[in-house]
Amino acid sequence: MSKAWEEWTEEEVTSFQDDFLTWYQREKRNLPWRYNHDPYRIWISEIMLQQTRVDTVIDYFYRFMEQFPTIQDLANAPEDKLLKVWEGLGYYSRARNIQAAAKQIMEEFNGEFPSIVDEIRSLKGIGPYTAGAISSIAFEIPEPAIDGNVMRVVSRLFCIEADIAKASSRKPFDEAMRKIISQDQPGDFNQAMMDLGSSICTPTSPQCESCPIQSYCQAYREDRQTDFPVKSKKLKPKDVYYVAGIIENKHQELFLQQRPETGLLANMWLFPLEEVTAARFKDLQEQYDPSAWDLFSSSLVAEDSPDFFPEQAVVWQKKVLGEVKHVFSHLRWHILVFYGRSTAALTIEGQWVKPNDFENYVFPKPQQKMLEVFENNLADDKD
Ligand code: ADE
Repeated sequence: MSKAWEEWTEEEVTSFQDDFLTWYQREKRNLPWRYNHDPYRIWISEIMLQQTRVDTVIDYFYRFMEQFPTIQDLANAPEDKLLKVWEGLGYYSRARNIQAAAKQIMEEFNGEFPSIVDEIRSLKGIGPYTAGAISSIAFEIPEPAIDGNVMRVVSRLFCIEADIAKASSRKPFDEAMRKIISQDQPGDFNQAMMDLGSSICTPTSPQCESCPIQSYCQAYREDRQTDFPVKSKKLKPKDVYYVAGIIENKHQELFLQQRPETGLLANMWLFPLEEVTAARFKDLQEQYDPSAWDLFSSSLVAEDSPDFFPEQAVVWQKKVLGEVKHVFSHLRWHILVFYGRSTAALTIEGQWVKPNDFENYVFPKPQQKMLEVFENNLADDKD
């Protein structure tokens, strides 16, 4: 019989908390947002950590704090400076929401980070998880912070069968966490959960032999650790196929296009992309037909015919330079990268930029990958 969290006695809860917090004090990771209880630092770290690994976040966090030491600096920053610091972290709406929230804090809370849960929740981009993390870590308010790691730990601890892919399953986890969270040290308690979830109570091979709360764990007792959490299958990301053109002019500048103001990768810069069908992508991948100079044919037309190549604005190299894949949460981009030289002005929107100036443009991950393909492949076969 499984023992539900409701059946834990007060003594059990206290001894569980003691064992867990003692372990945390001994094992906690030394992370830059743990140096103090500044809600601003904790907020930024929590947003960065939402879809990103701790190891990756650390450098971004330092750079962010260096560029925007205060909420006011963040509120007043130009968007491109903000996105530049975020470049490569992905999920850029997080960065935009952070800035909107910083403005909200300046206007509605006199520049001071609010210390009441409902007020924290009212900030743009802050949901129950982040509000719980900030409230507990910065202000020692006993609010649970429930993310995927925590759900895994708690589902095993109490053999909770609720499907964690469903929003409605929050409730049993929230209730269980409220029962066991430390009232005196909720910040450490939540972070102990996070650390346990990422180091010991891992998805496929949990290290139960080293677990500080093994003796409390119902799934361990029943030898059912990997039955939890229960999670229904997510929909697969949709495949989208593109050709990309890395186009160079005679001044060794490359052509970049800015994404629209809204939507995926809003306002960021990429080499021109054109969506193609899966079948066309496959053809191009297997055999690029050099007689079919129709890449970007609809958009790349010479404005005025130059002396050399009167027919076309871009002369494409007759082979694929490389292939790039990038997975967003709901889409999987497949990009075939081609290289071409322009011999006339292009009529599509965009800018010629010297590679030395790339640092002034915000490049999302797929663009960085295309640039790598370019740098790794072009040197030996430009001609
Ligand atoms: N993941 C999310 N928040 C975290 C935190 N505060 N410490 C470590 N890992 C985390």
